Amino acid sequence: MSFLEVTDVTVRFTVGSRLAARIKGEKPPILTAVDGISFEAERGESIGIVGESGCGKSTLAKAITGLVPVASGSISLDGRELAGKRDQALRRRIQMVFQDPSSSLNPSLTVEKMLSELLRVHQVVPRDEIADRCAELMDLVELPQSLLEALPRRMSGGQRQRVGIARALALEPDVLIADESVAALDVSVQAPILNLLNSLRDNLGLTLMFISHDLAVVRYVSDRVIVMYLGTAVEDRPTAQLFDDPRHPYTKALMAAAPKFGVKKAPGESALKGEPPSALNLPSGCRFRPRCPLAADICEQIEPDLIGPSETQRAACHFAWEENEIPA
Ligand SMILES: Nc1ncnc2c1ncn2[C@@H]1O[C@H](COP(=O)(O)OP(=O)(O)OP(=O)(O)O)[C@@H](O)[C@H]1O
Ligand code: SF4
Ligand SMILES: [Mg+2]
Repeated sequence: MSFLEVTDVTVRFTVGSRLAARIKGEKPPILTAVDGISFEAERGESIGIVGESGCGKSTLAKAITGLVPVASGSISLDGRELAGKRDQALRRRIQMVFQDPSSSLNPSLTVEKMLSELLRVHQVVPRDEIADRCAELMDLVELPQSLLEALPRRMSGGQRQRVGIARALALEPDVLIADESVAALDVSVQAPILNLLNSLRDNLGLTLMFISHDLAVVRYVSDRVIVMYLGTAVEDRPTAQLFDDPRHPYTKALMAAAPKFGVKKAPGESALKGEPPSALNLPSGCRFRPRCPLAADICEQIEPDLIGPSETQRAACHFAWEENEIPA
């Protein structure tokens, strides 16, 4: 049994107006944002989740933190089931750091007020220890104590993101999910934040789930990487092997299109040519088929399973593990 176990998790959303659909006598369309994802993570392990915009990364994170309900599947932490349960104490052990700290921090609260309030409401420490704990949290995220008195708008983007991390750490989580946590930051402040996440993982034994559309950033902080495409995992490998020898054509294409670490792409620029098909209208067989340079007849007929030579080396392509990947 692993510390965090995500098994066959599926999340669906109803799209458009239910009322409008009912008036027309139709069922509202259902979009499967996460389609049967499974993975496991140990204490202190860092899992990267990468994929293009809309592939379901944030939805998967929200399902794990309980912010969206799962349609099916199981999520367990330390052997206890989370999916469909309202176990606040257990849920508190999984915390999320969001992309844009400026919009998630209350602009009228100083850092100290915000952290103290959290510690008090969740009864993390006795009242007389709250001030000390705030100071410890500032040390943990490597911010000066003087910033305890600051309002969010008086801080830089990097400092605000550290406050966002301190806020997540205040609840003493075992799992920290960082969703595009450096995407909004200047390139020059990305690396120090990634280093901080790495050292928190080492020092606190946190399980880290690091989500980004940026392969280089994911590579820097992850022991293992799961590549997502249209709601499914198409490759799940140890980081070094994935980058040295990617097996899924989608992973290869992502890598070919990836910018070097620290170089931002222009807004709206896609990592790959063409758009993924709509999750409302999936192609038959392999869902990467319409964009895949290696697509063969079998790809239209049979959806490939996520399989490989071992549990830790898996890819969902009929030809992923063949010597010669291109069929004759
Ligand atoms: N609340 C919602 N209602 C309806 N559809 C949703 C909802 N949230 C997400 N979706 C859809 O689910 C799919 C996955 O979205 P999600 O936000 O998880 O992708 P993502 O990989 O995090 O993308 P990005 O890189 O842009 O953050 C998308 O098609 C999105 O439009
Ligand atoms: S199964 Fe076929 S279409 Fe899908 S990624 Fe592999 S080669 Fe391409
Ligand atoms: Mg997202």
